[in-house]
Amino acid sequence: MNVTTVIDGIYRLSANMEEILFEGLWPVPNGVAMNSYIVKGEKTAIVDGVCGWDGVPETLFAQLEKINVDPESIDYVIVNHMEPDHSGWIEDFRKIRPDFTIVTSKKAVPLMEAYFDITDDIMVVGDGDTLDLGDGRVLAFAEIPNVHWPETIATFDTKSGTLMPCDAFGSFGSIGEAMYDDELTPEQIDFYEQEAIRYYSNIVAAFSVPTAKAISKASTLPIKIIAPGHGIVWRKDPMKIVNDYIRYASYQKGPCENEVTVIWGSMYGMTEQGVRPAIDALESEGIIVHEHRVPEDSWGDILTSAWSSTGLVLGMPTYEYKMFPPMLNILEELARKRFLNRKVFRFGSYSWSGGAQKDLDEMVARLKPGWEFLEPVEFKGKPSQEELDTIAARCKELAVQIKEAVASKGK
Ligand code: FEO
Repeated sequence: MNVTTVIDGIYRLSANMEEILFEGLWPVPNGVAMNSYIVKGEKTAIVDGVCGWDGVPETLFAQLEKINVDPESIDYVIVNHMEPDHSGWIEDFRKIRPDFTIVTSKKAVPLMEAYFDITDDIMVVGDGDTLDLGDGRVLAFAEIPNVHWPETIATFDTKSGTLMPCDAFGSFGSIGEAMYDDELTPEQIDFYEQEAIRYYSNIVAAFSVPTAKAISKASTLPIKIIAPGHGIVWRKDPMKIVNDYIRYASYQKGPCENEVTVIWGSMYGMTEQGVRPAIDALESEGIIVHEHRVPEDSWGDILTSAWSSTGLVLGMPTYEYKMFPPMLNILEELARKRFLNRKVFRFGSYSWSGGAQKDLDEMVARLKPGWEFLEPVEFKGKPSQEELDTIAARCKELAVQIKEAVASKGK
C-alpha cells in the first residue's frame, strides 16, 4: 500500500491485488488496484476502504503518518458501495478507531448489519445531501444505484471538484509508480483503457443502463478530477474516462466496433478446420478479429473481446445431442450479462446426429439477447472444401452487415 496526494487535502491510499480471482470468479492477469481516499478539512473523512492491506492496522498507521493524519482523528467513514472489496476493511478499521460515524446510503444500512453487525452511528445520505468537514471542504452525495450494486452513492468534493464514484469509471490493472493520468505515457494510458474495457465487460456490463444514467447525473457536476475505487486517477483529462464509459455503455445494445469475436471449441479437430477460413474471410474485409478457444481461454478475456464486437462467430461441434458444454457456459454468460443484439454466425461438426444448433436456438429463445443469426453451416465429420468455402462466404456476408451497422450508428 502507498499514499499519494491527489490534490491539496485529498490523499489516495492504494494497494494492488494480484493472482486473485476478482469476485471469486474473474482472472485479473494484470492485477487490480484498490483505492481509498482521505479527505481533510477541519475534520477528516476516509472514502471507501482498501481490501488486501497488508498488516492492518500497522501499515495504515505508517501511511497515515506520512500525510500527518492521526488515525484517531478520522471522524467519518464514507461507504460509497457495500461490496466487500471496498467495505470489507471496516472490521480492520475498528481496531484503529471503534467510534467513527459511517456515512452511507439508506439501502446500505441493512447490508451494514448483515455484513458487519453495525447498526449504530450511521449517517444516511442521498441525492443533494452534504457533509461539511470545515475549512471550506463540503462533500456532496449523489445516488448512483446499480453502479454496481443498488445502494451505491458517489462522493463529490465541492472544494476541489474531485468525484469519488467507487466502481464507476474504474479499471483493472495494477498501479506502479505512475498512477495519475498526467504522469502516464500514451502507451500506459492505452494499457489502462484496455484494462477499463476488461473491468467494464466483466463487472459492470449488465448494469449499462444505470451506468449511462449515472454518467448523465455526474455530467451536471463541475468535475475537475475523477478518483475511482479501482485504477488510475484522472486529473489531467477526466472527460477521457467519462467518454470511454459512455462508449462502453453504448456497446450493450450495439452496434459496437468493426470487430468480431471468434469463439471456438473442437473435440478432434473437425470444427477447428473452419476457424482459419472464417478468420481470413473476416480480416480480408477489414474486420478486427479476436480469437478465443474454449475451454482453454478465460471467460474474462472472451467477455473483454466480445463487449466491443458487433459480431460473434461460433465454431462449435455437437456434444451428446447438445452444444459443446464450454460454449454453452460462455454463451449463457454473454446473454445473462446482456451482450445484446450481436450479429452471429455458427458452424460446426456433428457425428451420428446434430443437436447443437437446436440447443443454441433454445438458449437464445430463453434468454432473449436479441442476437441475429446468419444461416449456420453444419457438417458431418470433417468439412468438405465446399463447406469451408461456404463458411468463408458467410463470414464475408457477416463482415458486410457489421460494417453497415457500425456506419449507420448515430444516424
Ligand atoms: Fe469494486 Fe462493486 O465493487
